[in-house]
Amino acid sequence: MQRITVIGAGNVGATCANVIAHKDLAKEVVLIDIKEGIAEGKALDIWQTAAINHFNSRVTGVTNDYLKTKGSGVVVITSGVPRKPGMSRDDLIKTNAGIVKEVTEKVVKYSPDAIIIVVSNPLDVMTYAAYLASNKPSNKVFGMAGILDTGRYRSFLANALDVAPVDIHGLLLGGHGDTMVPLPRYTAVNGIPVTQLLGKDELDKIVERTKKGGGELVNLIGTSAWYAPGAAAAQMVEAIVDDQNRVFPVCALLNGEYGLKDVYLGVPVKLGKNGIEEIIQIDLDKDEKELLKSSSESVKKVMKILDDMKLF
Ligand code: APR
Repeated sequence: MQRITVIGAGNVGATCANVIAHKDLAKEVVLIDIKEGIAEGKALDIWQTAAINHFNSRVTGVTNDYLKTKGSGVVVITSGVPRKPGMSRDDLIKTNAGIVKEVTEKVVKYSPDAIIIVVSNPLDVMTYAAYLASNKPSNKVFGMAGILDTGRYRSFLANALDVAPVDIHGLLLGGHGDTMVPLPRYTAVNGIPVTQLLGKDELDKIVERTKKGGGELVNLIGTSAWYAPGAAAAQMVEAIVDDQNRVFPVCALLNGEYGLKDVYLGVPVKLGKNGIEEIIQIDLDKDEKELLKSSSESVKKVMKILDDMKLF
């Protein structure tokens, strides 16, 4: 790919650009921020690792100059404020909605064909805001949460079982928050159902820790996490650029799938060169359906706050 842009050169954006460059996914990776010098500096720092770490993607940093992002094939939006201890992701909406709207409009102006991946929180509603601002079909505008949440879940399971994290396959559905829907019966260690390897109590504890995984890090660091979020967004970029048709939980606009409509929610999808190639519908039991429905309702409450802001 010729060009990939990452908006926001803060913790998540810079990490994401770093991973994208290391994977050599584009000729040029553009990092853009509103704070003078930050994107330029971080881009230069990343580019100075190219000779050491063997990659060739040029990394460019710019302050607010969207002309430099022109013709990007994929754009990752991380601009906005992160959580501080005591805040929920939903507390960020007032600040981040305006930022996401503004940057999406600029992105689309210069890169009308770009696939947009949103990372800014509150994720499900910020993805909806980008969708509204972009006027693009929803298979081209979606959000990163599921790979991160599943990554956390898999890391906790890897510790509990003392096995390689890559051998653990699992799915988490629903909103990016405390109402996410973990599915232990769809979790396996190289095909072995995890329910045969761990007792219910231990699994329940891991599920609870996963749900609050972001908050655990906010409390430890004083701001929200960046290594795993940045890497997770870069993995989505890779699936698109290399047309991999990988199956990931992604925050996608539902249009009747899972009996839900007009809401962005984490569901399994196939990711390839067109963005979301397909939303995969898996069987859910009664309890799981209920959990997904209540997750959708809590996302809709935050969507209502967005609607009341009358930005669109
Ligand atoms: N255009 C471009 N960049 C912007 C804009 C804008 N309109 N507004 C803010 N930014 C930049 C800030 O200058 C800052 O450098 O976004 C960057 C955000 O970086 P951090 O404060 O380090 O936040 P980060 O941890 O990267 O989180 C960013 O991702 O995971 C989510 O909850 C998190 O919403 C937050 C977002």
